[in-house]
Amino acid sequence: MERNRWYKDMVFYQIWPRSFKDGDGDGMGDLWGVYEKLDHIKSLGCDGIWFSPIYPSPGADCGYDIADYMDIAPEFGGMEAFRKVLDGVHQRGMKLLMDLVVNHTSDEHEWFQKSRQRIEPYTDYYIWRPAKPGGKLPNNWDSNFEGKAWTYDEVRGEYYLHLFAIKQPDLNMDNPLVREEVKKILRFWLDMGVDGFREDVITYISKAEGLPDDHLFPIYKGMPKYNHGPHIHEYLAEFKRDVLDHYDCFTLAEAPLVWPKQALKYIDEEHGQIDMMIQFQCQTADCLFTDYLPTKFSLRRMKKAFSDWQYKLEGKAWNMLYLENHDHPRIVTRYGSEKYQAESAKTLAVSYLFQKGTPFLYQGQEIGMTNWRPESADMYRDVQTIYNYNHSNLKKPLQVRLEKMWRSSRDGARSPVQWDSSPNAGFTTGTPWFYVNQNYPEINIEKQNADPDSVLNFYRKAIALRKSLPVVKEGIYKEHFHSHPKQYIYSREMPGQKLLIVCAFSEKTQKMKLPKGFDLSSAQCILHNYSSTDSLTLQPYECRVYLW
Ligand code: NOJ
Repeated sequence: MERNRWYKDMVFYQIWPRSFKDGDGDGMGDLWGVYEKLDHIKSLGCDGIWFSPIYPSPGADCGYDIADYMDIAPEFGGMEAFRKVLDGVHQRGMKLLMDLVVNHTSDEHEWFQKSRQRIEPYTDYYIWRPAKPGGKLPNNWDSNFEGKAWTYDEVRGEYYLHLFAIKQPDLNMDNPLVREEVKKILRFWLDMGVDGFREDVITYISKAEGLPDDHLFPIYKGMPKYNHGPHIHEYLAEFKRDVLDHYDCFTLAEAPLVWPKQALKYIDEEHGQIDMMIQFQCQTADCLFTDYLPTKFSLRRMKKAFSDWQYKLEGKAWNMLYLENHDHPRIVTRYGSEKYQAESAKTLAVSYLFQKGTPFLYQGQEIGMTNWRPESADMYRDVQTIYNYNHSNLKKPLQVRLEKMWRSSRDGARSPVQWDSSPNAGFTTGTPWFYVNQNYPEINIEKQNADPDSVLNFYRKAIALRKSLPVVKEGIYKEHFHSHPKQYIYSREMPGQKLLIVCAFSEKTQKMKLPKGFDLSSAQCILHNYSSTDSLTLQPYECRVYLW
């Protein structure tokens, strides 16, 4: 039976709960706050919400270190608040995605506590290894967050693998009992009524047999031996066959270091095991592999990433479209311009919202929030940032180190959502758990709600247009003038309807050329961020969408 792939018609909104909205005044965002703001999300035209983790967790990685998969953290309001939000979401005709984090758990999870004591059946729930002869680590893998990927556990007398923080031990997915636990978790939330999952670093769950060393040269670290392992498709197919296929749900896989050809093995609509994939190429137009190796922004790199995924998935799989999430600094600061904050926020919106796929917005993106800038390094909270700051560029002057961190840190996008111009940006009546970006009196939701030309109202228009035009869902994507360093021009075409999307990426004015076959005299400019759209001169960060 052909599946009803409802996610293709949707636009999702990602909530990173601690910084979204505090409902009980304790300084931390929570589900009561989310409940209050559901109509804001709906008003954008979004019809789905993805929650970053809201389970009980010691918070070593802001919730991506889960201590109990079948509960909601009390600080977020517990199950009572969750059910209220879930009902509120469904009453508004929206869907809700949970974050499924099963590459690792918290070291405070009961499974780990029992595993380190070799209590059955938990003994092999994690990846334990003795030291190699000479007291060497089991292999040379680096963790993504905190030095080497192995930490010695005194209780068990062995090393455990953690591809992320020390407090995030990796589960042993090769153990069928662990896979059964994953299925229980999936069923638990699906039975409660959630509509699907965003699957955290899911391509890491199957590690190469024998855990061989990684290549020594950093450039090859891009292909670690724990990504796309030998059983990955088998395990994902098992979850699908045993659980997911029995529900009307969908899955979105986070996949670091994946290119379209490989992605198709996961998301091909005929044979894939999951529905959509979060790829990272669109995040590397101003860095090498990771945000922590910043380079100058290259529009060509951004365009190439977009176009590659558009061309190569066409007719075979469905794209997930995004520019921001909780793992990357704010896009206006990175790919746009703080000087032209509103103009560039709108241009960035247009650069991805009219592509083929399902767009995701990250909280605060709808008003063009910019990177939070700390005054000193001790203001950072993120485990990855703190490690990087303390271990890189040590010989560089303090100012340079701070500047680099500001460009790279995940904390840049984790400051509270700027709701209004009251104290703490209206995020909390208490003391916020994290710093509020000082530009909140100028950039906030209340102010932008009242301004028809705001970034917020522009997002609303763009999303409404995307939903009203069949060509956005169906049309063929084509990029024009792909080597142009300052313009991104693409079209979408289907019989009877055609769009041309023009985005200028420069603080200077520039001339625009038209691709062949696009005669503006018969077109209507349906969306723009400057009032005059007649001339072929583009203003700083101008964008236009033409319809035929
Ligand atoms: C990816 C998540 O998006 C990130 O926030 C988290 O730190 C890592 N996976 C580890 O779970």
